[in-house]
Amino acid sequence: MSGAAPAPRRVPSPFDENPDLGELVVSEDELATRIAELGKAITADYAGRPPLLVGVLKGAFMFMADLARSIELPVEFDFMAVASYGSATRTSGVVRIVKDLDLDLTDRHVLVVEDIVDSGLTLAYLRRNLLVRAPASLEVCALLVKEGRVKGEVDLRYTGFEIPPTFVVGYGLDAGERYRNLPFVCAYRDGEGA
Ligand code: IMP
Ligand code: MG
Repeated sequence: MSGAAPAPRRVPSPFDENPDLGELVVSEDELATRIAELGKAITADYAGRPPLLVGVLKGAFMFMADLARSIELPVEFDFMAVASYGSATRTSGVVRIVKDLDLDLTDRHVLVVEDIVDSGLTLAYLRRNLLVRAPASLEVCALLVKEGRVKGEVDLRYTGFEIPPTFVVGYGLDAGERYRNLPFVCAYRDGEGA
């Protein structure tokens, strides 16, 4: 064979110049760097008492996968799926468990992995619900927290990023089930760009 190798062909993305998508909020690199730091902190904090990671579906699935790979402990996994009543872009705080956990939490060190905390109502509900199951400890790791939005007490042991209080999509987060597969987090402009 001779000559230069052809440049890799970039497959056009359906997201290119999508008018629904706004400015970048957290880049792929920033996600990777911060998640490695969180994994390090969790590895140190949970040495000798490996946590049971509880992922909140669907939004946390991508964060959970990357976070878990940055934790150097024999973690276990479980998932629950919740649906909150309300509009597509706002929660009411009334949460319904769509899929409950498979595992018993009694005496376990539970670390809830959440995608985003907006009003904090979903998390407050989850915390109450899980504490009743008598875990040895219960902490929360949320990738994103919206500045100035949280109502009342939310006890977050680990936080990835504080972001402006606008609606975002990508890296697991959706708008009407779309955009979860974006490898970054960006603003969602509902109809504004159309
Ligand atoms: P909260 O109960 O108001 O804290 O809302 C938390 C839940 O609402 C999250 O777990 C998400 O499922 C959803 N959510 C809140 N803000 C956003 C957003 O900006 N993009 C996508 N989903 C969001
Ligand atoms: Mg969610």
